[in-house]
Amino acid sequence: MEPIPFYVAGQPAVSDDTLTVRHPYDGRPAGHTAYATPDQVEAAISAAAGITAVAAALPAFRRAAALDHVSRRLAERADEVARLITAENGKPVKWARAEVGRAVATFRWAAEEARRFSGDLQRLDTDPASAGRLAVVRRVPKGPVLGITPFNFPLNLVAHKVAPAIAVGAPIIVKPAPATPLSALLLGELLAETDLPAGMFSVLPLPNDRAADLVEDPRLPVVSFTGSGPVGAAIQAAVPGKHVTLELGGNAAALICEDYAADADFTYAAQRIATFANYQAGQSCIAVQRVYVHEWLYDGFLPRLVTAVEALRVGDPTDETVDVGPLISEEAARRVEAWVDEAVAAGAEIAAGGRRGGATYPPTVLTGAPADAKVCTEEVFGPVLVIAPVADDEAGFAAINDSMYGLQAGIFTHDLRTAFSAHRTLQVGGVVVGDVPSYRADQMPYGGTKASGVGREGLRSAMEDYTEPRVMVLTGIDL
Ligand code: SIN
Repeated sequence: MEPIPFYVAGQPAVSDDTLTVRHPYDGRPAGHTAYATPDQVEAAISAAAGITAVAAALPAFRRAAALDHVSRRLAERADEVARLITAENGKPVKWARAEVGRAVATFRWAAEEARRFSGDLQRLDTDPASAGRLAVVRRVPKGPVLGITPFNFPLNLVAHKVAPAIAVGAPIIVKPAPATPLSALLLGELLAETDLPAGMFSVLPLPNDRAADLVEDPRLPVVSFTGSGPVGAAIQAAVPGKHVTLELGGNAAALICEDYAADADFTYAAQRIATFANYQAGQSCIAVQRVYVHEWLYDGFLPRLVTAVEALRVGDPTDETVDVGPLISEEAARRVEAWVDEAVAAGAEIAAGGRRGGATYPPTVLTGAPADAKVCTEEVFGPVLVIAPVADDEAGFAAINDSMYGLQAGIFTHDLRTAFSAHRTLQVGGVVVGDVPSYRADQMPYGGTKASGVGREGLRSAMEDYTEPRVMVLTGIDL
């Protein structure tokens, strides 16, 4: 296998510090690349800093054309890209295809937003002292962005850093997760096909213990991180003067409300929850982890959910019919196993699930898990859900809020009043009514409260995050 280049200031590069990426399912090589050297990192940062003014002045048509190009090329190469995602991440190929489709849309949306991103006019003649005055409020890039991305969506979560940066004219350096750099490198290849100026983007595979140099570099004033809570907290503490966006974990909950009681409701909710507790082996910050069910409905709903979970096909993620593949590593699967065992030792019962095999952990349903078990309080990031009855909808909302996290929640109800009550009450970044918390459209604001993070992604939100307002006051205007 040829080594896959990384990108320093838009140019392909290699080094002797080789990195073999392995398929999580069976350990065979998925590709070879290399870590960037300290000199290459310096070259990327100084190019990004050097191009800041040029990048900010790039006309919208050039930024949009580059973004449209990436969107189109991803669509053209969708099958190959999906197989690459599966190879490095282990997610079933059907979910990898879904991720490619989302990345196509992420870049397309960014192109559309780049054309729209114009600023505001504010009339100032609201007081006599400001008669004839008008403010033009435009948003200007804060400077080069450092994007640090996780393994669980190795393409689309990179897209969520890169696309809004290009859309606003901010240079970006991406450090992909060491386990899954290949999709980000492919994105680098597509960006290199555009006429974006050198220095506008770099994609640098680096071991995690070398990320601090980038985080602390004053030439990168914006840090956008998606990953674990402890790392996010360390970043925030290390650079209090920087603009830091953190997309951290969650233990997302779904609530089956009192009115969601028809046979068709049960079928739909059980199917959606089974699927989205276990998609990509539960390795999504908004995978369903906690399920609360109105106590009148609990005994009827549980067997439906167990049947739906047991119907999921587990196995080789390259098989088109497989629903659940391996976790990212055997170590990750062992941790999930330990948390389930710990909950069972504390009184939980396994309603569905089985034995770990290598990096694969089967979709698991736990009942009676104590509220302080890790499977309830922490982010499992594995194919495990806990289910419990609640006395009423209010008790369900309280149970959802009883978490250090607050990313998204799913409320199964037909009642608009319940929907608004949930929206008012739940301490989360997003409430999905009539579906699982795992729903995400890439243009909508996405992010969390409490330990789930700071700031929002989604194209428009990230573009605002990467920029700041600059006001121009015009005087002597005949308004
Ligand atoms: C995440 O795991 O935070 C990303 C979820 C998604 O983009 O669907």
